Amino acid sequence: MFRNVVEQARSEGLNVKVALFDTVTSLPGMRFPFEELTRVCKDEGIFSVIDGAHGIGHIPLDLKELQPDFFTSNLHKYGSTNPRDRSQGN
Ligand SMILES: Cc1ncc(COP(=O)(O)O)c(C=O)c1O
Repeated sequence: MFRNVVEQARSEGLNVKVALFDTVTSLPGMRFPFEELTRVCKDEGIFSVIDGAHGIGHIPLDLKELQPDFFTSNLHKYGSTNPRDRSQGN
């Protein structure tokens, strides 16, 4: 779907340079397919900018593996939690 949007924008003469997306949206708290979107950005030559405000401490994140162009976050939301503990039901 994201690829289609990029294609559509380009067919309209737009130069898609950057895509901004969340790890987890604020409302309705949906886990975004940010790994796939990052891969599409790499394929399409688009800068990926991930808003990880609800990501760090909430879901497992491997930025070395993901390699987005930019990743932003904060630590005051889930900074004292451990997503590994959570996945084990602790
Ligand atoms: C998706 C997302 N990005 C960024 C922010 C900004 O976070 P803050 O200004 O609290 O650091 C929020 C706030 O809840 C958010 O939901």
